[in-house]
Amino acid sequence: DHGSIPPSLSWSFAGPFGKFDQGQLQRGYKVYKEVCSACHSMNLVHYRNLTDPGGPGFSVAQAEALASEIQVKDGPNDAGDMFERPGRVADKFPSPFPNENAARAANGGAAPPDLSLMAKARGYERGFPQFIFDAFTQFQEKGPNYIHALLTGFESSPPEGFALPEGSTYNKYFPGHATKMPNPLADDQVTYDDGTPQKVDQYAKDVSAFLMWAAEPKLEERKRIGLQVMIFMIILAGLLYFTKKAVWADAH
Ligand code: HEM
Repeated sequence: DHGSIPPSLSWSFAGPFGKFDQGQLQRGYKVYKEVCSACHSMNLVHYRNLTDPGGPGFSVAQAEALASEIQVKDGPNDAGDMFERPGRVADKFPSPFPNENAARAANGGAAPPDLSLMAKARGYERGFPQFIFDAFTQFQEKGPNYIHALLTGFESSPPEGFALPEGSTYNKYFPGHATKMPNPLADDQVTYDDGTPQKVDQYAKDVSAFLMWAAEPKLEERKRIGLQVMIFMIILAGLLYFTKKAVWADAH
């Protein structure tokens, strides 16, 4: 069982003119930081990326402040000693566990996967004929649709007749339905200071958008260049059409 098909949401980054919503990415970072990062690493994201164009739009000072909240193991120094120092923007997001075995041991045998590329990795694995249908719909949004569905798809008790293994939680959208991830979100768990509703559904949307940005940091740039290419091609096609007419004007 692949799990139920996640509903398609309308994302700000969908379509040829799509852009990330900076406020949403900043809120999504907060949800990741305060909730998900207790179990999940994001090894490919560095604090400096938070200031990249087409991203959450944090200022350099904000990124420096966020980085300085973590402690990083560094060294050896001149005396040959390892030491801890506050994080810098060149550091990557910290990992909650020292290694895979520790991650497994703390989570009932299932290591929480790195979330850097999760929005690209998930949601594409559907069988025939679903994948053909997917190719004609919002293919790019499959990942964030799935992550949002997963985070809102926990059920406190499994349906009649489903044998839930000890230590697992039932989730409508997780492939196989029995997951070792405990329901991580509850209403009012993360404080938003921009008046956005502090609801599980909203947290799930915001963190899914944040993970989409992490997996596709050049999304806006690619869409912009794609559009410019299309405009160029249309103009070129027009020029070629009139050139052809002029060149062949006498050839009756
Ligand atoms: C798996 C997202 C919080 C533990 C996953 C997966 C995603 C995800 C996308 C992969 C599911 C799949 O394989 O299809 C998130 C997000 C979180 C969050 C966005 C924050 C809102 C947590 C927390 C914990 C945790 C706080 C630990 C208490 C796990 C574990 C798995 C997992 C153990 C592996 C599940 C399995 O294979 O059975 N998570 N997670 N997650 N997560 Fe999380």
